[in-house]
Amino acid sequence: MSEDSPLIRSLRTAVAAAPTDVPLRLHLAELLLNEGRADAAVAELAVALQHVPGDDQARQLMVRAVGAPQQAAPPAERSAPERSAPEQSTVGQPPGSRGRFDWRAAEQQVQDVVPPRFVETPARADGADDPGDAEAWDVERPGGVRLADVGGMQDVKDRLEAAFLAPLRNPELRRLYGKSLRGGLLLYGPPGCGKTFIARAIAGELGAAFLSVSVNDVLDMWIGNSERNMHEIFQTARRQAPCVVFLDELDALGGKRSRSAHGGMRNTVNQLLTELDGIDSAANEGVFVLAATNVPWDVDNALRRPGRLDRTLLVLPPDAPARESILRYHLRERPVENVDLARLAKATDGLSGADLAHLCEAAAERALLDSARTGTVRLIGMKDLLGAAKEISPSTDPWFASARNVAMFANEGGMYDDLIAYLKKRRKL
Ligand SMILES: Nc1ncnc2c1ncn2[C@@H]1O[C@H](COP(=O)(O)OP(=O)(O)OP(=O)(O)O)[C@@H](O)[C@H]1O
Ligand SMILES: [Mg+2]
Repeated sequence: MSEDSPLIRSLRTAVAAAPTDVPLRLHLAELLLNEGRADAAVAELAVALQHVPGDDQARQLMVRAVGAPQQAAPPAERSAPERSAPEQSTVGQPPGSRGRFDWRAAEQQVQDVVPPRFVETPARADGADDPGDAEAWDVERPGGVRLADVGGMQDVKDRLEAAFLAPLRNPELRRLYGKSLRGGLLLYGPPGCGKTFIARAIAGELGAAFLSVSVNDVLDMWIGNSERNMHEIFQTARRQAPCVVFLDELDALGGKRSRSAHGGMRNTVNQLLTELDGIDSAANEGVFVLAATNVPWDVDNALRRPGRLDRTLLVLPPDAPARESILRYHLRERPVENVDLARLAKATDGLSGADLAHLCEAAAERALLDSARTGTVRLIGMKDLLGAAKEISPSTDPWFASARNVAMFANEGGMYDDLIAYLKKRRKL
């Protein structure tokens, strides 16, 4: 972000302390505008308009902001000691009188101004440029997301509570049940429907640190390294306990589908088994194992035996309340008006979380392109969102097509009973 003047910095602090104080935010936006920083002003105004969609002053400022020319290249590329150049700006021009506003860049910058809610930790800290970091794998400290942040999906939450959280939360119960509580939970379901999100929320519920690794990152082309990586992950978790180890893309261990390129895969699976079997020992107190996969039928059966990843949880496409909360999240910093989230949720049945994120982007693009074309600035409305919804088909369809076969012909031990029930309910079976 570009350097703030002291006044703007103070105002930002004040706004951060009182995020709902609209006049304060508008004042900040106006100052930013006067400094020729239309992009930053748009971001503030978008937030203000969320609170007071009809406010005249906010709207006028927004019109000014999106009609104002960019001060310069995006801030990241800007050379540091640049003079602010209000004299060049044509702030106050009627909207649409300039064709040079870079909509795409502005959208991106608006996104940048909003800190990401979930920090995507790279699975592995790059040891080369961070020799001071003792842990080879990145651990997120506790806090952040809780189950309450997961919109809807009440049945998933209930099952989690009963099968996983309640016994773990309670140390008395833990002691009482001892060994029968070891073992982890395997989340499965179509892509983009919240497995990773829920895993992080579980860590939040347990007040545990979160160590997320993609199994693909564990796999190393050097023989022996994958096993060592696997062991190091669990060692890291033990040091950081209480800690949730989240093994994403578990199927990459490809138990059933042998991958000739990876002769050492068997050893890596064995190493994981060793670590999992050790989970009930005293050294592993406070280490919880979660794993996720889109293709549970490719997961090595040995990993699913009792005491290992012996419980499964099906994570389905978001239900209506979940869609509402996903949509709310993705629209919260965009300049929208009169959005009926309940109606939109109804119109997006079957879409995954990832599809919904895409929908919000597509709707924003529509409004922006339209504004650019007509020269009249307008906010993102239901028309854009419903229009975008019509054009997006659920990305989970292919997944259900293969899941259907597996559920019908390979439902060993009733593992896919939940899936079958869902498919029947949706008349997909
Ligand atoms: N119930 C929900 N409430 C709020 N946000 C949700 C919910 N379900 C999913 N999301 C959001 O949807 C997006 C996709 O979810 P996530 O990445 O967890 O899916 P995934 O199942 O792990 O996907 P993949 O199989 O691609 O790894 C995320 O941005 C997540 O925050
Ligand atoms: Mg995921």
